[in-house]
Amino acid sequence: MKLTVVGCGYLGATHAACMAELGHEVLGMDSDMDKVAVLNSGRAPFFERDLDDLLAEHTRSGRLRFTGSYAEAAAFGDLHFIGVGTPQQPDGHAYDLTPLFSAIRQLAAHVSGPAVVAVKSTVPVGTAPRVRDLLRDLSPAGEAIEVAWNPEFLRESHAVEDTLRPDRLVLGFDAERSWAEAVLRQCFTKIIEAGTPTIVTDWATAELAKASANAFLATKISFVNAMAEVCEAAGADVGRLADILGQDVRIGRPGLSPGLGFGGGCLPKDLRSFVARADELGVGRSLTILREVDAINGRCRERLVTLARELCGGTVDGKRITVWGAAFKPGTDDIRDSPALAVAQKLHELGATVTVSDPKALDSARKLHPALDYADDPIAAAQDADLLLHLTEWPQFAHIDPRPLASRVTSSKVIDGRGTLDADDWRAAGWTVRTLGRP
Ligand code: UDX
Repeated sequence: MKLTVVGCGYLGATHAACMAELGHEVLGMDSDMDKVAVLNSGRAPFFERDLDDLLAEHTRSGRLRFTGSYAEAAAFGDLHFIGVGTPQQPDGHAYDLTPLFSAIRQLAAHVSGPAVVAVKSTVPVGTAPRVRDLLRDLSPAGEAIEVAWNPEFLRESHAVEDTLRPDRLVLGFDAERSWAEAVLRQCFTKIIEAGTPTIVTDWATAELAKASANAFLATKISFVNAMAEVCEAAGADVGRLADILGQDVRIGRPGLSPGLGFGGGCLPKDLRSFVARADELGVGRSLTILREVDAINGRCRERLVTLARELCGGTVDGKRITVWGAAFKPGTDDIRDSPALAVAQKLHELGATVTVSDPKALDSARKLHPALDYADDPIAAAQDADLLLHLTEWPQFAHIDPRPLASRVTSSKVIDGRGTLDADDWRAAGWTVRTLGRP
């Protein structure tokens, strides 16, 4: 099939490359010409495992190309995926749909014949009819445009795998779905034939699928972090507790790792926007739990700062603190709402000299937090430190030998904000080790 992907960020660039991998001819469209140039050179403008390989392979084979032109995109094929970002409003909790509607308007102006527009962007429930009306009002094709809702559940750092082999495929249509459904099923034939559960539903349910999946994931993380608070008070070990809880198949261990909590471009924003939308719909009470999920998540960062102060003898003012981790999680260079950087910035504001090290995210961290110090080498970053904080669990940090490191620092104290360092080994090397929620 010939298809386009409008909006080539984490979601769209990955989707475009994966659709080419499935055998389609793909044109990615983005209004950022710098991004278009990088993508056309067969690289991603961000770090995502396996994505560079796919981009290189398919830009070379000619199956994948990128453009900045809506006219070219509209003329390219009759299936258009929309992967435009929906950020949080700067002064509120709801989504800012301006970029989405702007993309829809510009695409619509050039679509002249029957087409399916399949939206992947995360939106408040109730957006699909607005997209349909806008498309039909503004496009010369009018009623010949159909809208499908195809939420995306990919995790950064596993984006290619999650796109090619998703847990489930969700396709949302309105009552006139016949043609759009056939087009989407044809597009995803290989994924469907691989046995992927495929759920066809209405627009609103498809929109809610993404919001509620992320709300549930966030709730699971905050649940275990609330247990960490209880463990601290009771002298219990939240790591062991999570292992025990996770043995129950109804609970499951994945997504139940305690620590510094969730960040990133999705969970925090999606949670708040979901609550805002529920308020608009008059069912805000139903999502009261999500306000608490957000609050618990914020407390993880506060608890870490409190613990850092405690280990520094009551104040971090004038102390040298090394932070391992800047990305919001390992495997990505994405620093959006990064818990690690939030803690680093707070400690800096409290008077500490903070040096951050991260395998992939230092360039973007430098731009957003210019007052912090940075070091490529995590070992050099720890030179003369009064305190070491392990805040993003890159595997390379867990492999660092704590013995020689102990002689570099001023004070061999570490807070493991992710619970993935070998605490016994670090203690044996002479370190004082503290982990949230563990004795
Ligand atoms: C998430 C959803 O997983 C994905 O389905 C959706 O499409 C987009 O949002 P992502 O933001 O890439 O994906 O990351 P995820 O792996 O879910 O982690 C989110 C945050 O939660 C990270 O900061 C991570 O460190 C934290 N986390 C995750 C925990 O603190 N504990 C866990 O057990 C799992």
